[in-house]
Amino acid sequence: MAEIRIFKNSEELARSAAELFIELAAAAIEQRGRFAVALAGGSTPRALYERLAERPFAKRVDWTRVHIFWGDERSVPPGHPDSNYWLAHETWLKHLAISPQNIHRICGELKPQEAADRYQSELSNFFSNKQWPDFDLVLLGMGEDGHTASLFPHTAALDEKSRWVTANYVEKLRSWRVTLTPGAINGAKHIAFLVSGRGKKERAHLVIRGKHQPHDLPAQLVRPVSGQLFWLLDAEAAALL
Ligand code: 6PG
Repeated sequence: MAEIRIFKNSEELARSAAELFIELAAAAIEQRGRFAVALAGGSTPRALYERLAERPFAKRVDWTRVHIFWGDERSVPPGHPDSNYWLAHETWLKHLAISPQNIHRICGELKPQEAADRYQSELSNFFSNKQWPDFDLVLLGMGEDGHTASLFPHTAALDEKSRWVTANYVEKLRSWRVTLTPGAINGAKHIAFLVSGRGKKERAHLVIRGKHQPHDLPAQLVRPVSGQLFWLLDAEAAALL
C-alpha cells in the first residue's frame, strides 16, 4: 500500500524529500554499509538536490558510503543542459565529497542500446548478479501524461520483462531514452514519487485512484515487490486525491 504525503508547496515537498533521503541513507549505511539511490530526472527534483547540497542536510550523510545511479537518461552528452546527470551534478553532486567511482551515470553520449548495455552490466556488477537490483531508494517523477523515468505511454519499454535497463524510442519526443525497466524499479526497498504542480493533478488522481491501465499510465507499473512506495505531492498536484 502506498504512503501518500501531501505538502503545502513545492519547497516543503523538497525539504521533506530531503529528510526522507537522509533517513533512508542513514539506515542503509548502518545496516549494509552503503546507500544505493537512483535519481529522478526532469525539473521537480532540482529543489531536493539543492537542499541536499546545503546545511543541515549535506552534513548529515557519510557521502563516501553513497552510490548514485539514475532512473533514466536522455540521449545527450553528460554536459548537455537536458542531461539528468548534469542536473544532479550542477545542483548537488559537485558540492559533495562523493568519489567519482560512486557516481554511476548512464552514458547518454553513447548509442542508446550501447548505453543501456553498459549501464545494465554496471548495475549487474554492483548488485552482484541478483535477479533484480534492490536499490535502497529509487526517486521518480511523473509526467503530465503519466509517464515515469523514461517509461512513456505505449512504448516498448513498458513490456520489458527481463532486462534491467533498456533503450526506449519515444515517438512523441522523437528521441531515444535509456531507462530502468519496471522490474528494475520494483526491486527497490523504497520508491518515492515526487510530484508538484497543478499540471499533474489529473494524472496523479488517475494513477493513484483510477483503474489500472499501465499502458496509458506507466507510473502505475511502479509496484514494489516487497519495498515501500511513497507519493510526495504538493497541494496543487494532490488537489483531486
Ligand atoms: C526525465 C524524467 C521524467 C520526469 C518527468 C517529470 O528524464 O524527464 O525522468 O520521468 O521525472 O517527466 O518531469 P518534471 O519533474 O520536469 O515535471
